[in-house]
Amino acid sequence: MPTDVVIIGAGPAGLTLANLLQRNGIGCVVLEARDRSYVEERQRAGVLDHYGGRIFEEAGLAGQVLAGAPLETFLELRYDGEPHLLDVPALAGGRAGRIVPQQLLVRRLLAAFLAGGGDLRFEAGDVAVHDLTSSPRVTYTDASGTTHELACSYVAGCDGFHGVSRRSIPEDELTTYTFDHGIGWYTVLADAPPPRHPLMAIGRHGFAAQFARGTAASRFYLQYKPGAEDPRAWPDAETWDKLRVRLGDPDLPGGVITDREIVEMRSFVAEPMAYGKMFLAGDAAHIITPMGAKGMNLAIADAHVLAGALTSALRGDDTALRDYSDVCLRRTWDYQEFSRWFTEMVHDTEGDPFRRKLAKARFDRLFTNHAAGVAFADMMSGVELVT
Ligand code: APR
Repeated sequence: MPTDVVIIGAGPAGLTLANLLQRNGIGCVVLEARDRSYVEERQRAGVLDHYGGRIFEEAGLAGQVLAGAPLETFLELRYDGEPHLLDVPALAGGRAGRIVPQQLLVRRLLAAFLAGGGDLRFEAGDVAVHDLTSSPRVTYTDASGTTHELACSYVAGCDGFHGVSRRSIPEDELTTYTFDHGIGWYTVLADAPPPRHPLMAIGRHGFAAQFARGTAASRFYLQYKPGAEDPRAWPDAETWDKLRVRLGDPDLPGGVITDREIVEMRSFVAEPMAYGKMFLAGDAAHIITPMGAKGMNLAIADAHVLAGALTSALRGDDTALRDYSDVCLRRTWDYQEFSRWFTEMVHDTEGDPFRRKLAKARFDRLFTNHAAGVAFADMMSGVELVT
């Protein structure tokens, strides 16, 4: 008996899809390249937007997935050290997001899927897809080196940007769009008291941010120029000095830095998000900058649309499946535009005074024009597409 759906990848996209299909009574097997502890421990930021939260609520998974996750409240934006608070949930008509670190979400989704009798195979090596335009098959080798083959009705490529799914699509069947924002972030995790609210600071010395990581730690971000400097070479004292200047807080207490990373901001979209009977979801199809925290939410939204479409198709109506790529690309480009808009507003423009003035006008509009504040909050809370 062929499996209904083989899902490649157990990140937020693959695990959301697996749980939603399981709830719909659709058979699926999840193949994950890494072992369980790697998947569960991989640290990434996480804000689940309001729309993402509703997906789990409507699937009856709120108790298992969302329990105890604090609701988002204010966002603090500082301009040249001057604080401005934005009540994002109030502006969005009460649609608050939740603070859910990605690894916690992944751990909970994994537990929920396994508790429901789900079939999740870790350490699946050499995953390959075959005959995607006729009768799909997925092959892989298990940890002991034995090769397995799964025949299926559909394949879901949820294996991230570096996965095998997108790379298996013939080049002339895909159009890809890439954009380098020319902005780097140096991010450090430190044993330093968290801020009251998520904090982003804008000014001529460059962007900086501080977010809570539990009750005694913070993650900090500092804009840098890729190619021109390597912030990992900065002594910690210099990092703290820069943070104090950019956050406009000379009294910011320092602390032991426990992790240092750099992120270069790039965006990517592959079109269409489908080839034959394989459908791409999440980072396999698109990468977005962290501004606006939409990466994980896009992955979850794709999975939600795909779960509904696959369920209908397996019950005999493939209309939604044919629309899957178009529907998800609309949201993807909408979020890409938002993320770029946000990126331009908060990053320094290398001394270009005209662009700096434009960014300031954009910032001011958020606080002086109610409709602009509502539009911002609407994007932050997540957009439900009307199809
Ligand atoms: N075979 C099987 N599994 C694979 C393969 C492969 N060839 N390649 C990658 N994987 C697995 C990875 O080990 C990972 O667990 O696919 C999973 C992909 O997960 P993510 O990269 O987290 O992608 P996605 O589920 O789309 O979630 C996107 O994660 O990268 C962040 O910021 C991004 O928040 C966004 C979210």
